[in-house]
Order: sequence, then C-alpha cells, then structure tokens
Amino acid sequence: MAEINSDINRAKEILDSDQLIGLPTETVYGLAGNGLKAEVVSKIFEVKNRPHFDPLILHSHSLEAISEYVKEIPETAKILAKAFWPGPLTILLKRNNKIPDLTCSGLDRVAFRIPKHPKALSLLKILDYPLAAPSANPFGYISPTNSQHVQQQLGNKIPFILEGEISEVGIESTIVGFENEETVIYRLGGLEVDEIEKLIGKVKTLPHSSSKPDAPGMLKSHYAPRKNIVLGNIEQLIDQNPTLKLGILSFCKHYKEAEMSLTLSESKDMHEAAKNLFSHLRKLDESNVDLIIAEKVPSEGLGKAINDRLQRAAVKE
Ligand code: TXA
Ligand code: MG
Repeated sequence: MAEINSDINRAKEILDSDQLIGLPTETVYGLAGNGLKAEVVSKIFEVKNRPHFDPLILHSHSLEAISEYVKEIPETAKILAKAFWPGPLTILLKRNNKIPDLTCSGLDRVAFRIPKHPKALSLLKILDYPLAAPSANPFGYISPTNSQHVQQQLGNKIPFILEGEISEVGIESTIVGFENEETVIYRLGGLEVDEIEKLIGKVKTLPHSSSKPDAPGMLKSHYAPRKNIVLGNIEQLIDQNPTLKLGILSFCKHYKEAEMSLTLSESKDMHEAAKNLFSHLRKLDESNVDLIIAEKVPSEGLGKAINDRLQRAAVKE
C-alpha cells in the first residue's frame, strides 16, 4: 500500500527520484510525476493503463514558469489565466521542445493548469519541473476525490499519496484552446462556460467524439462505474425494474424504494452536486445493488458538466 502523508518535502523527495505520487487538487486527485521526463511519463500511462493517444495535463505554479515551455501565450489565454488561475481551468498552448512528445501524445499543443489546492500549489513551488497528472484512476473509471479513493485503486502501484483532504470542486477542469481566432472548449468541467463567456464573449463548445478525439476526456464512455448505470426518469426506471435491488443517484430527492438512495444536493446547489458526483457514484458501485439509476440535473451552470459526466458514465462500449 502507498504511504499517505501530508508532508510536501517527502513528496518532493519521491518525485525527484522519478517516482509517482497521488496529488490532491481542488478538482480531482491526480497521478503525478515529472512531466519533463519521458520515462516518468511512461510510468503514468502504465499505472493508469491509459492509451498513449490520450495526452496528459501539466501542472505548474505560475504563468511565468509555464512560459518556459511554450512558444507563445495568446492575449486571450493571458486574460483567462489572470482571471481563473489558480483554478479548475486547463489551457492548451503551443509547446516548445522542452516537453517530451509522450506527455502530449505527439500533439503540437500542451495542456497546462495551475491548481488552486494549497498543498498542490506549495508542492509545485518547490519543484523545478511541472507535474504531469491525469486523474488518479484506472483509465475509464470514476475519478478520485480523496486520498482513500487513490489508495484503493492505485495504492499497490505507487509509493506515496500526498494527503490533502477532499477535492472541493469534485469534477475535472474545463479545457480551453484556441483555433484561429476562436476560443474552443474541449471539455466541460469545474469552471462554468458562462464565467468564461462573461469575460471574453461567446466561445465554441466541441461536441463529443468517440474515436480519435482531440481531447480524450471527451471519449463517449468514460468516468464509468463497473456496475450498469442507466440514466433517465427515476420513477419510470423504478417501475421498469421491480425485481432488482436499485441504487439511486438523484439530484435532490430521496427514494424509499431503493436499496441505496443518494442525492447530489438536497438544496439544489450545483457546486455541492459536483463535489458529490464521483464519490456518490463510487459508493453505489461498491454497494450490493444490482443496477444504478440516475437522472440528469438541470442544465445550468456546472449542471452541464455534471450531465456530461453522467452521460458518459452511463454509456457502455
Ligand atoms: O482537473 C483536471 O484536469 C485533473 C487534475 C488532476 O488536474 N486532471 C485530469 O486529467 O482530468 P486527465 O488526464 O484525466 O484528463 C486530461 C484531458 C484528456 O482528456 C486529454 O485529452 C486532454 O486533457 N488533453 C491533454 N493534453 C491535451 C492536448 N495537448 N490537446 C488536447 N487535449 C489534451
Ligand atoms: Mg481522467
């Protein structure tokens, strides 16, 4: 099992010896290693069982540090960085040759994020390299939002998890990039698109693609529990499945008919709903229910990103 410890100097020691750690961030926990070394990045792909076509996000502590690894920082990127970093936003930038091909799956852009989590930020400040960190789950499975989730899933494959309490946002970062003069959203996430549009005007949101995606976080089936999950009208789904032990994930209402009934937010608060999403899905997946049924939340604010995750958790391919 991995050592779980909140000491950032211990974390640095392990990272400096080219090993991987579990990294707390405000979105989800990451599986982190030196993003400038191909052999370390290669371990990340291996531990996660992640296909090499799915590039990693680099984490840094300042725009100045990031500028060392990219060809240019467009004006719009600077505006977004100033407003939302540190925070749940990832920005795609043209990379230079200090970054190994493997980190970016050979693409000409690199994804960067400055996380807001205090532990992650203080660790990044004492390192002299950015950390490559995908979510710390086996590829395709539910993302972890606390250190125990990481221990359960990857504890036998990594030496250390930096303890940092629960992820406050609960879903992965929003990913933006620039195509010609246009700002494009590649993945909905913890920063609302409305917030971005308030600042820089209308942006384009890419639809999902299931093969050779530009951002594989957009694969149709992803973030999925091992049990079957169906998405729809909960009352109808209860009627259609009278003989099964049901696990229900609803937006705000409890259901007595269920073996286990969890609500994302009784007070209909989208931030609370996002924070609970992955941990509730995990509880249902680990319970003795036969089938998980869930409903979409209102498609406003973070609700869009929550629905995106629910939809992909429900697709089996
Ligand atoms: O909140 C987050 O973003 C978390 C925490 C740990 O920071 N990380 C995360 O990483 O969600 P991951 O690996 O689960 O998702 C990374 C997504 C992938 O879908 C990947 O395709 C996209 O970012 N991405 C990374 N680099 C890219 C690039 N150069 N071009 C297009 N998409 C890229
Ligand atoms: Mg992930």
